[in-house]
Amino acid sequence: MRDTNSLEKILVLDFGAQYAHLICRRIRELGVYAELVPYDITNKEIAERKGRGLIFSGGPMSVYETNSPLPRMEIYKAGLPILGICYGLQALVFQNRGKVSNASRREYGKSPVYLLSHENPLFRGISSPTICWMSHGDAAESLPTGFQAIASSPNSQYAAIASDNLMYAVQFHPEVTHTAEGNKILSNFVFDICGCTKNWSTETMIDDAVADLKTLIGPKDKVLCALSGGVDSSTTAALIERAIGKRLICVFVDTGLLREGEKERTEDFFRPRLGKNLVIVDDSKRFLSGLKRVKDPEKKRMIVGREFIRSFERVQRRFGKIKWLAQGTLYTDIVESAKSAVSRNTQSKIKSHHNVGGLPKDLKFELIEPLKDLYKDEVRRLAATLGVPKELVFSHPFPGPGLAVRVIGEVTTDKLRIVRKASSIIEEELRKSGMHEKVWQAFASVGDDLATGVGGDARSVGHIVIIRIVESVDAMTADWSRISYDILEKISSRITNEVSGVTWVTYAISSKPPSTIEPQ
Ligand code: XMP
Repeated sequence: MRDTNSLEKILVLDFGAQYAHLICRRIRELGVYAELVPYDITNKEIAERKGRGLIFSGGPMSVYETNSPLPRMEIYKAGLPILGICYGLQALVFQNRGKVSNASRREYGKSPVYLLSHENPLFRGISSPTICWMSHGDAAESLPTGFQAIASSPNSQYAAIASDNLMYAVQFHPEVTHTAEGNKILSNFVFDICGCTKNWSTETMIDDAVADLKTLIGPKDKVLCALSGGVDSSTTAALIERAIGKRLICVFVDTGLLREGEKERTEDFFRPRLGKNLVIVDDSKRFLSGLKRVKDPEKKRMIVGREFIRSFERVQRRFGKIKWLAQGTLYTDIVESAKSAVSRNTQSKIKSHHNVGGLPKDLKFELIEPLKDLYKDEVRRLAATLGVPKELVFSHPFPGPGLAVRVIGEVTTDKLRIVRKASSIIEEELRKSGMHEKVWQAFASVGDDLATGVGGDARSVGHIVIIRIVESVDAMTADWSRISYDILEKISSRITNEVSGVTWVTYAISSKPPSTIEPQ
């Protein structure tokens, strides 16, 4: 692999925020290499990694708690520009002898931020007010000597601050897409304040990944790639195929938890490309019996993860020795499972995505996860550059545990039938109206609650189907789609007419946060 250490880079100190890695990715999008590093990195390590600028990420703790993560004091003498974000602002203020306290009002969601000066390089070209995403309970109460406020919001006197020696900090999150001019703010920091030049692109990413895989996989080793028919595993397969050709074996497992037509679509696309190296197994009975009577979503994820590995091990026995297992794990899968290597366990666990949390301890494979630093939209760009067809590049994400996490409560064949059919109606209607590619995900979910309906002249009792349609860039945050009433009406009436056992249809109007995208 190219020695990324020789690149000048922005180092993002990880204080455990869900969004810490997102900052890196936004900066890479600007064309500059960025890397997540432990919050207690030393100045020597910063110099060895050729850091040109430092960003302090957000984090879930309060700076005044004992054991809260804080950077080493020497970092303020490194002579590099610093940008603190949210908790990062509070750490900067606290360590430089300002005061941080619990704010009287938590500030959460979108807020107008008013610039107090257009002269500050961090805000060059930014409008005032500018809409920013806030998510904090603590706030700076008084600033350290040498600092001044450069922006404020209705609830934050110090929405942004700057010192006279290259230290900047913002209380909002410039890295999330809800902050309208967040990219411009990061770009001002990276290029104008740190003086970086562009050194990173999709092509360099592919070259690096292929070279890395060639070094890692021995000249005779075989790789088994778990293929789901989605963009992540297809891109993983395409990258590995570039590196090792016919030593790649792809396995598609019918778990009984798939979307309608998924198996057929996958076979149609991959069989001509992979021939005998595409293995399709039907293990649905085993998966469904493993899930019997299980209601807890975390348990469901673990069970699906475990059963997947069993399926792979069977294929492994059939093909003789296969050393490696490749998975299309993305960064969001890892961060939501709180498995970040550098976070030193400061991240909160949201969900164990099956391909991260559910691996058995006695795994008989070594793992390859070439996309594990990337987000979905980065993978889509990679896929397009690798020649993966458009319909696959833009297919909606589908969770590894499949419909098991869209069925609330116990997974039964009846509830599976309902979500499968209702989801396919939703996707079909969105395609017809040209909305399918405009939204991040669209699907149905069903639980055990029943509601009364009336069919013909008779009362009936049936399931409540929840329609979930969200817009997002990377699944870290998401907003419910303001889809037209006409489309919703068509979907609703088709579901009650065509899916037996459904009497009510509802639309989920919760964003992420505070909700997640999948119901479980
Ligand atoms: P949530 O529900 O956590 O989902 O907001 C974020 C994105 O990840 C997908 N997802 C999963 N993917 N294994 C996966 O491979 C999982 O267990 C899993 N759970 C959620 C989800 O569809 C969304 O795109």
